[in-house]
Amino acid sequence: MIVTTSDLFKIAYGKFAIGAYNINNMEQAIGLFEGNLKAEAPFIIQISKGARKYGGAEMLEAIIRAAENRYPDTIFAVHLDHGDEQTAYDCIESGFYSSVMIDASHESFDENVAITRRVVERAHAKGISVEAELGMLGGVEEDIAVDEKHAMLTDPDEAKAFVEQSGCDSLAVAIGTSHGAYKFSGGQGLHFDRIASIQERLPGFPLVMHGSSSVPQDEVLRINGAGGKLDPSAKGVNEDEFAKAVPLGVTKVNIDTDGRLVWTRVHREFFRDHPDGFDLRKPGTIFMDAYAEFIVAKSEKLLSKGQLDLVRAALQHKTV
Ligand code: G3H
Ligand code: 13P
Ligand code: ZN
Repeated sequence: MIVTTSDLFKIAYGKFAIGAYNINNMEQAIGLFEGNLKAEAPFIIQISKGARKYGGAEMLEAIIRAAENRYPDTIFAVHLDHGDEQTAYDCIESGFYSSVMIDASHESFDENVAITRRVVERAHAKGISVEAELGMLGGVEEDIAVDEKHAMLTDPDEAKAFVEQSGCDSLAVAIGTSHGAYKFSGGQGLHFDRIASIQERLPGFPLVMHGSSSVPQDEVLRINGAGGKLDPSAKGVNEDEFAKAVPLGVTKVNIDTDGRLVWTRVHREFFRDHPDGFDLRKPGTIFMDAYAEFIVAKSEKLLSKGQLDLVRAALQHKTV
């Protein structure tokens, strides 16, 4: 069942975080649905502009519709990740997305508010939720690269003013994470003090954590052991910190890179061990199972594992 992110956030706030996973193809979709079904976890499917371009937006939509039919017990939102204004409108008009992100965080505060406000008006008229972003994460997202020294943590007072003026339903905040495999150097980690100050200004308002992959060391070592050349100092978010972020209002956690690492490890190891192989379905099958297992493990760390009944009951009794 497709629901809005706002519906999920009302139920989850302060209790658990919803995993938001980017997908680009059928194998990722099947692993995602299988994993969340097994974990009994609600989830968010994220589609980036790059994913819409890769195989065509209508292909991804057909895959998700087919998965919805095949897995009728799942509860999820379909969300545009890092949308620009025009792509947000395309998704709102498509009748398929239940949530869009408008990312105008690279604009001035006033321009970010104005753009987000316009998207909110069009989305809310159709019952669609809107995520916006304030502050600057490091790393690369879509075609915009932000180096670490230009990354800027979200200002709590600005966050409050932004939410009031823009009318967005959730806010992506910069709290020390960055996109991609190379997030932290040395002992850096999440800025919990900053999350707490934002929550103080915006009690009960859902916060979104982008760049939340954990980039497991053993995954990087396995990829490099099978011919990869990833920087072994690659480091992500400590998964055990999700549980600490949940009571502070972090309700959506974005994960893409970790799934790509699973894909890379499975395929590199498969072709290393089967140099004469060329049947794409063989590593594809291993990947779908491995990705489903990965989702189950993430759900546990996000505290969303086993929450499906609670979500179903809340939706049925319209307590959201
Ligand atoms: O934040 C970016 C996401 O990881 C999506 O990546 O634009 O390469 O699809 P992508
Ligand atoms: P990662 O690169 O850490 O997986 O972050 C993904 C993300 O924030 C998508 O919006
Ligand atoms: Zn992101």
